[in-house]
Amino acid sequence: MNEQEFIPKKYSGLIPAGTTTWRAPSNIALVKYWGKFPDQIPANPSISFTLSKSATTTSVSYEPKKQNSDGTSFTLLFEGKPKEEFRPKITTFLGRISKYLPFLNEIHLKIDTSNTFPHSSGIASSASGMAALALCLMDIEKELVPSMEPEFLKRKASFLARLGSGSACRSISGPIVEWGMHKDLPESTDLAGIPYKGEVHQVFQDYQDTILLVHKGEKTVSSTAGHDLMNKHPFANRRFEQAHDNLSGLMGVFETGDLEKFIQIVESEALTLHAMMMTSLPYYLLMKPQTLSVIQKIWAYREQTSVPLCFTLDAGANVHLLYPLQYREKVLQFIKNELIAYCENGQYICDQLGEGSKKV
Ligand code: PMV
Repeated sequence: MNEQEFIPKKYSGLIPAGTTTWRAPSNIALVKYWGKFPDQIPANPSISFTLSKSATTTSVSYEPKKQNSDGTSFTLLFEGKPKEEFRPKITTFLGRISKYLPFLNEIHLKIDTSNTFPHSSGIASSASGMAALALCLMDIEKELVPSMEPEFLKRKASFLARLGSGSACRSISGPIVEWGMHKDLPESTDLAGIPYKGEVHQVFQDYQDTILLVHKGEKTVSSTAGHDLMNKHPFANRRFEQAHDNLSGLMGVFETGDLEKFIQIVESEALTLHAMMMTSLPYYLLMKPQTLSVIQKIWAYREQTSVPLCFTLDAGANVHLLYPLQYREKVLQFIKNELIAYCENGQYICDQLGEGSKKV
């Protein structure tokens, strides 16, 4: 894959008018992307489970611009209402990708977007949101290039989504997506997420992710600032090597279904992500006391019951519980008995592995 393949030849048709709608899911990284170079090039490869229920649905209505003006033009509704706070991020995104979608300078977009998960729940919506928007924009390009193959549409959507929010490039496909060059994956690229094609053991087919909403407030340090702090981080290089090793390890685990090793890699990745934050300068913490209590409860529960339940964390305080489908009842009971007390307003989201984005 190279960047040039995403710069279109001159379009022959007129700028079309119409509406398109896509639903894109969120994803949860098992090997984490933390640290980047300019243009959202990841400092290390990452791999994620695509989720199913936690998703963004975006409709884009489009028509030729009525007046000649420079740059991109759009209106934005979030959950039915104008949302000024989102404008700068989308303006930057559209500006950045107009080199690859030159029609953006000649079209007006009405973007209408909503999430399945509660607003400000602490679940990052940038991955699903940027993925859904990128897919809608690719649908418009398909009107101009009717011969476009569906596979190319998704590949370019992932490439574009990456420019909006790195991890968004892993939200186009499912159920497992890899992003970033890795020696064991010849097709891997820093430019986009690719569906993981290796063998995947039956135990992972219906893997569950129950997200405990431990803290729903805004993060004190954004992911952008966190990535930047990896530039001068004293442990950065060793961390990037570790991510490569953990990805190799996980590929073996996917094949064998070795859940003990899966748990070790996934929990170590989660704690390493937060350890990087705690050892940045300035240092900071995104975990809350409840996050640590939940982790300790999980370890005790695993010790007592041998249920292969493990956790992972995003750049925030919420805890993702990962486990095979067959333990669903047991784990949900455990949550009700012991973990719900640590969730804000007792809230958690039951999700599972999903197939990726869909046109609505
Ligand atoms: O996509 P960004 O720039 O918001 O970074 C997200 C990074 C993590 O969610 C912490 C890890 C990952 O790989 O998704």
